[in-house]
Amino acid sequence: MPKKKLLQADYILAWDNAPEIISQGEIVIEDSLITYIGPRLERREKDFEEIIKGRDNLIMPGFINTHTHAAMSLFRGYADDMALMDWLNNKIWPAEAKLRKEDIYWGTMLAIAEMLRGGTTCFADMYFHMDEAARACLESGIRASLAQGLTGLDKIKGMAGLKEGSSLVRNWHNKGDGRITVMLGPHAPYTCPPDYLQKVLEKAADLDVPIHIHLAETRAEVKECLSKYGKTPVELMEEIGLLDHRVLAAHCVHLTEKEIEILAEKETAIAHNPGSNLKLGSGTAPVAKLLEKGVPVGLGTDSAASNNNLDMLEEMRLAALLPKGLLENPTVVPAETALKMATINGADALFLSNEVGILKKGAKADLIMFNLNQPHFYPRHNILAHLVYSARSADINLVMVNGTVLMSDGELLTIDEERVFFEAQLRATRLVY
Ligand code: NI
Repeated sequence: MPKKKLLQADYILAWDNAPEIISQGEIVIEDSLITYIGPRLERREKDFEEIIKGRDNLIMPGFINTHTHAAMSLFRGYADDMALMDWLNNKIWPAEAKLRKEDIYWGTMLAIAEMLRGGTTCFADMYFHMDEAARACLESGIRASLAQGLTGLDKIKGMAGLKEGSSLVRNWHNKGDGRITVMLGPHAPYTCPPDYLQKVLEKAADLDVPIHIHLAETRAEVKECLSKYGKTPVELMEEIGLLDHRVLAAHCVHLTEKEIEILAEKETAIAHNPGSNLKLGSGTAPVAKLLEKGVPVGLGTDSAASNNNLDMLEEMRLAALLPKGLLENPTVVPAETALKMATINGADALFLSNEVGILKKGAKADLIMFNLNQPHFYPRHNILAHLVYSARSADINLVMVNGTVLMSDGELLTIDEERVFFEAQLRATRLVY
């Protein structure tokens, strides 16, 4: 007998081509999958091992954070208000040199606790000692797509990293009941020369996994790329053949019209990180144009060291507000589009289309529930707009991943938060002194 769960709520956000709010709906979950979503039917309570009734609640797909460096939560508030290269060279990289394996585990756990509380059920991560990040995902129950961060400026280190990245694939891909998937993570064109990227590409094809890379994040990166190779970052990636593979490209802030065309043609997935790009003064990605051309743009927080939180509601709001202000056009990136970026597009960007990011029969039961009994959810003219422009992460009272409840009534069920806070503080202090 499969374990069946029944979830009822006053509102369920389903999405079949267009968003649809099911009033007085219910969802049946068997093991990790949604087997029914729709209006309430006659049911026998004894057929279910768990019944959750969300009165004045809304159920929607969990958020998908398409780009972060989870363990960097340990550096939150350590170095702020600096330019990217100054921040990396003089603060982050020296502190990272002191990282030990277990630091990654606790830093990732801290990030997962924050993400679950904010309704994130799946994230794409790129960092070091990723076995430890995988262990944190396995234990906490969250879904993740992990990549070992690779740099190729030093040949020996580059090859060792590629070996480590490949063994992460072999050891962890599709583990945790399929919750954990793995990509290869060449850091960026400015830390991975073309011949190295070629090797990564061959390995990714060989292992049949996608590639997660930072691309065209700052104006300085574009300038350096042009002077070194006579090409912009996206043109260079196209020339190498990287974009013929499944690629998740983070940032894509500084793009020419030609690069936008290339990304659209190659169907490259993009992780848009408005909060981090703003805080590091990197600029703003041409999201409205990318979406118009049909590029799958998901949302990411980047790390808590450059954001400084992992709150997808905040990213979603920024993604909707920024282009309106910049283009002096309130009709671009409407609420519906922002919501789609945080869920469905996120799934596309992680190559998990139709599995997560959407509530429908046959999809994984990765969902969150909002308590709508709050002043900022009244009046109920447009709940979809409320989710983007009014909701707060504290409104989320239930989080489920792969059919398992990970947060209920504001309590994390798989994470000992007190221990996580203690370990994170202890380790973070050691790293910066
Ligand atoms: Ni990043």
